[in-house]
Amino acid sequence: MAVHYTYICQPSNNNNITFNHKTGSAEIATMRKDLKVLVSSNDYPEAGLKILREHFTVLQSRYNHFGEEGITQNKEELLQLAPAISALVWVSHHPITQELLDKAGPSLKVVATASAGYNHCNVDELKARGIKLSNTPDVLSPAVAEVAIALMLGAGRRFTENLEQVHSGQWEIGFQKVLGQEIRGSTVGVFGLGGIGQAIVKRLAGFEVEKFIYTGHREKPQAKALGAHFVSKDELLAQSDFVILAVPLTNETKLMVNKELLGKMKKSAILINVGRGDLVDQDALYDALKNKDIYAAGLDVTTPEPLPKDHKLLALPNLFVLPHIGSATVRTRNDMATLAARNLVNALSGKPLLTPVLS
Ligand code: DGY
Repeated sequence: MAVHYTYICQPSNNNNITFNHKTGSAEIATMRKDLKVLVSSNDYPEAGLKILREHFTVLQSRYNHFGEEGITQNKEELLQLAPAISALVWVSHHPITQELLDKAGPSLKVVATASAGYNHCNVDELKARGIKLSNTPDVLSPAVAEVAIALMLGAGRRFTENLEQVHSGQWEIGFQKVLGQEIRGSTVGVFGLGGIGQAIVKRLAGFEVEKFIYTGHREKPQAKALGAHFVSKDELLAQSDFVILAVPLTNETKLMVNKELLGKMKKSAILINVGRGDLVDQDALYDALKNKDIYAAGLDVTTPEPLPKDHKLLALPNLFVLPHIGSATVRTRNDMATLAARNLVNALSGKPLLTPVLS
């Protein structure tokens, strides 16, 4: 495997000259220690910190930005650190508040969210304030696709019930017990054949899928090479054995999986969600699973997160849930951190964002 690396030649004259062995080009990036970059969580990877420290003065929260800590101590810490920052690295799904943006003030020029999804980023407010925004698409597609396939296997082969049997020591052993459904021979339907959807289809190539179909606003040029066929939403629901949600959360997609949509799926179909919890009306999903209107579901994302352990969904044997681990691998989290940092370096040296949401 080829090794690509970038090293700093001479940090002098306020400039870093970097030589990129992948592109073979030397680049001059401005070192601006007078600019402050705020990193919103204490677990942002070193790979990203290293890049930021080479260029800027880095402020980092001492707290974790996820869960309860993220909305209590961490929130206060960020408000303390925000005044006069030029850039913000956002390492969480908690919303970016007006209060924080007000604290940062007009010096804040760019936000880099270390995520593909940016529904939490208060895009309208950033836009109104002229603040740029980048995300980290593509680098996480392989990892998320692996989890989508894990969910297909987990829901299709009844992992929830099977794990319960292992833990209780009460195995239902028999030739006709706990029979599941295979990916082999199935029709796989994808909502949103973007980076993640394409990565899922690519990785399913060895599973002997009968047919790949997808739906969305328009046909994707990449679909042909993947052997995926564009169909209407209703056709997809009527034909698919696996219905995969790989779309971002927007006003349009919010609660798109409702009673009506679930009613159009095959009774034997399995719903997979690697997008956002709010794509799904969870009460409608609960009813559909409970009444066996669909066969099973596999979710990496829920509302809320964490899902309380006494949540009614967790009592369903035909639901397989993971705790939002789509991009949670060492390699991918490092790649996300690196991409977020590179976006900031570009933005603060007057270059285009590498992966812009708002530019
Ligand atoms: C994303 O990047 O949007 C994933 O959900 C992981 O955070």
